[in-house]
Amino acid sequence: MERLANRPVASMPWPSLSALFARSTRSLPYPFEAPQTTLWTSARIALWEAIQVLDLRPGQRVALPAFCCGSELEPFLKAGLELSFFAVGDDLSPEPNSFREAIENASAAMATHYFGLPADLSAARDMAWQRKIPLIEDCAHALYATEGATQIGLSGDAAIFSFWKTVPLPDGGALHLRAGAVRARPKSPPPELIRHATRHLLSRSMRSHSVGAVRALEDMRQRLRRKKTSTASGTAEPENWHLIKFPDELIRAGMASSSQRIFRGTDHAFVRESRRRHFRELEAAFAGIRGFTPMSSLGEGACPLYFPVLVDDAAGLRKALAAEAVGVKHIWPYFHSSVPWSRFPRERHWKEKAIGFPVHQSLSDGDVARLIDVVKRWSRS
Ligand SMILES: Cc1ncc(COP(=O)(O)O)c(C=O)c1O
Repeated sequence: MERLANRPVASMPWPSLSALFARSTRSLPYPFEAPQTTLWTSARIALWEAIQVLDLRPGQRVALPAFCCGSELEPFLKAGLELSFFAVGDDLSPEPNSFREAIENASAAMATHYFGLPADLSAARDMAWQRKIPLIEDCAHALYATEGATQIGLSGDAAIFSFWKTVPLPDGGALHLRAGAVRARPKSPPPELIRHATRHLLSRSMRSHSVGAVRALEDMRQRLRRKKTSTASGTAEPENWHLIKFPDELIRAGMASSSQRIFRGTDHAFVRESRRRHFRELEAAFAGIRGFTPMSSLGEGACPLYFPVLVDDAAGLRKALAAEAVGVKHIWPYFHSSVPWSRFPRERHWKEKAIGFPVHQSLSDGDVARLIDVVKRWSRS
C-alpha cells in the first residue's frame, strides 16, 4: 500500500517535460565551451579520446585507483594498456605510498574525485610531475565541483566528465585537455541510443509524478514491458556488465544535440545548491545511527553526486528501502576482474558496504523527509 500511496524516491534526478523539450541557446558553464574541451556521449568515450591524445600505446602501463566502478577501466583495456592499481585513503584521495608504487613503470595515471567531493591530488600531482607522466582527473562524478571558483579537474593534464550522472540528460560527457588537441571530430551518437535514453528519462519523470494516476499508468507500462523482455531474452552476460562495458560502436560519438540543449537550459547553480543542501540534511539526520559511517563530509568545493555512507548491514537496508520504493545507489556492485582484489581489502569492503543516498535536485522536501523516515524506522527495527 505504502508503495502506491507515496511517490517513489528515485536515486537519480528526472527532467520536467518542459526541460526535455526546451530549446535553450544559453552558453554552457566554463570550461565546457572553451577550445580545450570537447563534448562526447559519455565519460568513457572522452577517456578513449584522452588515451589517443596522450599517445598511450598498447603494452604501456597506466596506474588506476582500485576503488572503481569498473567502467572507467574498459577504455584502457580496449586500447591494449596494462593496468596497475593503487589504494585510496580514508579521505578518498590516492594513498601516497601505494600511488608511488603503482606509477613506477607507468606511462600515465588517473585519479578520481569520488561522488563530487574534491579529492586532494596534490601529492599525486607532484609524483606524476616528477616522473613526467600525465595525470588524468576522473571528474565523472564531479560536475560543478570546484577548486577555488572554477570547475575541478582543470589542472590535470586531462579531465573527463559525465554530465548525465548529475543532470538528467539522454547522454553527455566531456574531455578537457591542459595542452594538446583532439584530432577526431565527434560524430552523432546512434539515434536509437538517444531515443532509448530519452524514453527512460520520461519514464523516470512519470514514475516520480506528483499525480498518483500518472505513476500507476507508468508502473503498469513498465510491468508489461518487463514481462515481454524477460520472456524474449536470456542473457549470458554477468550482472551489471551492460553498465560497465565499453561499446565499440560509440567510439568518437559526440554528445547529442538534444542533450546539449537541455544542458544549456539547466539552472546549474540550483543543481549545485540543492545537492549541497540535501547532503547536509541527510548528514544531520543520520548522525548517530549505529552502523552508519559517512565516507566524507561536505567540503567547500563539493557538488555531491550522493551522500556516501558505509552501512554495516548495507544489503538489509537496500532491501528495506526498495520495499518502500526509496532508491539508493549501491556503490559499486561490480568487481572488475582486472583488479587484484586480495591486495585491496579496504576498497573491497567499501564496494560491499557503501550506499549512495540520493541528494539530487529533483527531490522535494517531502522526498527527503520520507527517505529519512524510512531509514530511521529501519534503524530502530
Ligand atoms: C568513477 C567513474 N568514472 C567514469 C565513469 C564512466 O562514466 P560514463 O558512464 O559517462 O562513461 C563512471 C561510471 O559510472 C564512474 O563511476
